[in-house]
Amino acid sequence: MLIFAALMYSEKAIVMSGIRPTGFLHLGNYFGAIRNYVRMQEAYECYFMVADLHSLTTHPDTKELKANVHRVLAENIASGLDPEKAAFYCQSHIYETSELYLYLNMVAYLGELEKTTTFKEKARQQPDNVNAGLLTYPVLQTADIILHRAKYVPVGKDQEQHLEMARNFVNRFNHRYGEVFPEPYAFNYSAELVKVPSLDGTGKMSKSENQSATIYLADSDDQIRKKVMKAKTDEGPKTPGSIMPEYIRNLFTLMALVSEPGVSAQFEADFNACTIRYGDMKKKLAADMVRFVGPIREKVEAILADETYLKQVMERGAEKARASARETMRIVREAIGLHYY
Ligand code: TYM
Repeated sequence: MLIFAALMYSEKAIVMSGIRPTGFLHLGNYFGAIRNYVRMQEAYECYFMVADLHSLTTHPDTKELKANVHRVLAENIASGLDPEKAAFYCQSHIYETSELYLYLNMVAYLGELEKTTTFKEKARQQPDNVNAGLLTYPVLQTADIILHRAKYVPVGKDQEQHLEMARNFVNRFNHRYGEVFPEPYAFNYSAELVKVPSLDGTGKMSKSENQSATIYLADSDDQIRKKVMKAKTDEGPKTPGSIMPEYIRNLFTLMALVSEPGVSAQFEADFNACTIRYGDMKKKLAADMVRFVGPIREKVEAILADETYLKQVMERGAEKARASARETMRIVREAIGLHYY
């Protein structure tokens, strides 16, 4: 019976993902990533982590780090991540990640790293700190994923390029040293990866940018209502069949995520009939966001207050992640040829 259970477990496909502790989580993190974690933990062998090492590439000051790590843990758990089902851990607690990162740096080329969109963005944002960790950020992310030989990586649209790079590194490694790693793919339950737009019609919801146009899981009901009611609209279409501006399309995208099915279709019909009242639409969107965020926010506060529980989660998660990491690294060292006796 026990052997049968072990076999069943090992046959499950492996899933891995992570979130940086660089601020409060928002609806983008929820719908791009966490919603899938919660569903995947029922069917797969899952490894989810707080990417504290990655945060050092942009946030060298660590005064807020502990609070931010605790918050990411609590916000994930309050959103439904179950540390009993998935391994939920801190990246820096698994030293094997850093070793694998080093080996993978030998199959990552300067040219491709310099061309990465996120590297170019961050280099522009922090010209005085264009460090090598920033350049090799996708290499560390690949190490996180393939340390568990994961195949599926639930992430939002913004991570697509990093996954493409991960497959390149994996293929080069396998070509050089033998078939050690499966190719990892960005995953979402529906066909498209998710990009949750911000409320101001430009860009996406973010932990550190667009804060007044981002809905955080920690926002009060009042903050949510204010942010939604301030979202950019106009006088509405004047002729049937008008093209929908992007800032309006974004409101529909958000509504499709948080409102009951059919609600956004009704407003879309009103748009097409030129009878839409954006004030009513925003009131409905705000009410549904409040209904969605409120219960998560309340659970977060209770979890954050229990530091002993958070410590247990991290220890238990690291234990599970280490077992998988150790086995992978034994295979990796052997494949590279680092065995001299
Ligand atoms: P991070 O911390 O920026 O974001 C965490 C997750 O949230 C998703 N996300 C979004 N999805 C849709 N719409 C948005 N507006 C939005 N904003 C954020 C991200 O796509 C991500 O899934 N590099 C990663 C962290 C990482 C990682 C990993 C991920 C480190 N190692 C290994 C997967 C596997 C990052 O910066 O995520």
